Amino acid sequence: MKTNYINTTKKIEGIELAAKAIKNGKLVLFPTETVYGIGANAFDEKAVSKIFKAKGREGDNPLIVHICDLEMLKNLAEQIGEIEQKLINNFWPGPLTIIFNKKPVIPYNVTAGLETVGIRFPSNKIAQELIKLSKCPIAAPSANISGRPSGTKIEDIIDELGKKVEYILDDGMADIGVESTVVRVIDDKVHILRPGKITKEDIEKIGIKVIIEKQIMEKCKSEEKVMSPGMKYKHYAPRTKCLLIYSNNQQKLINEINKNIELEKSILVLGRTSNLEKYNTQNKLDMGETLEEISKNIFTLLRKVDSYKVKLVIIEGVKKEGLGLAIMNRLIRACGYNYIEL
Ligand code: TXA
Ligand code: MG
Repeated sequence: MKTNYINTTKKIEGIELAAKAIKNGKLVLFPTETVYGIGANAFDEKAVSKIFKAKGREGDNPLIVHICDLEMLKNLAEQIGEIEQKLINNFWPGPLTIIFNKKPVIPYNVTAGLETVGIRFPSNKIAQELIKLSKCPIAAPSANISGRPSGTKIEDIIDELGKKVEYILDDGMADIGVESTVVRVIDDKVHILRPGKITKEDIEKIGIKVIIEKQIMEKCKSEEKVMSPGMKYKHYAPRTKCLLIYSNNQQKLINEINKNIELEKSILVLGRTSNLEKYNTQNKLDMGETLEEISKNIFTLLRKVDSYKVKLVIIEGVKKEGLGLAIMNRLIRACGYNYIEL
């Protein structure tokens, strides 16, 4: 298949062609403020099945449906409760996915057979325009082969997915870099099923009680019942063995990493900008300094580590608070739960 590449930072008109492809049951790689998505018409069961095939995704892992206005939501969700409405008023458009009871128009392959559907109104303008011109909601998971780090820039994913889509809409590097916060309201409380840029603290600030599902930081057993199927799957992992280390004492952290460098010379360290010079190795990658920078860089860095061909990758952890919880959720999985806290 011939893929059409459109650099949307230069030429916005091309979105119309990509929207036409969506209407015709084709796949489009498109930007959002969190990560890139691989999308299809959410009402078209056959088109949606192509997403699962392109990603090698398990059929029991549901997709998020993307909308560009609240009219669309009414056609998809069975009822919109008071708490959900409050979340919408405060955080949409933006990096928050809300789980609703689904209406029958949504095919079951979108929701992996569930009676609920995850819906998100992205703030990225190209995404909004694509949905608007397509005149349908767009079902889209993160753009990556299943198990690989999510795509935050086209250069990282073009080899994996480029040939499997009709259009690529390039909008440069995704702003946030980790996927949306996924929430479900139960008994007037918000349960966070996947942490993201919208944090527990952000939701509490608008007067809603929040529960963080414990499975966010733990390894799920395959038979365990989970609130979000995505929790079960191996994710974000490079092929090289990775070890995640965290301490709230900077000196302890640096000493421990240097101790590992002594023991294993074939090593790569991913660290904060201000710590990098303190590590006694040439192989290091700069994660950035703030949580915002780290979140933006993390997936593209995880994609780089295999090219170093080292025996061990050490990754500096961050405090599991605010956006740090989302970063640690991704890093713990990337390291296959190989994690030490000092
Ligand atoms: O930021 C994002 O959310 C990106 C962009 C493209 O919007 N999308 C994304 O989709 O990360 P995906 O498919 O990679 O992750 C969706 C997550 C999975 O963990 C899935 O299990 C969960 O959302 N999910 C989707 N629908 C659900 C539902 N009905 N109930 C529980 N969890 C659901
Ligand atoms: Mg994903």
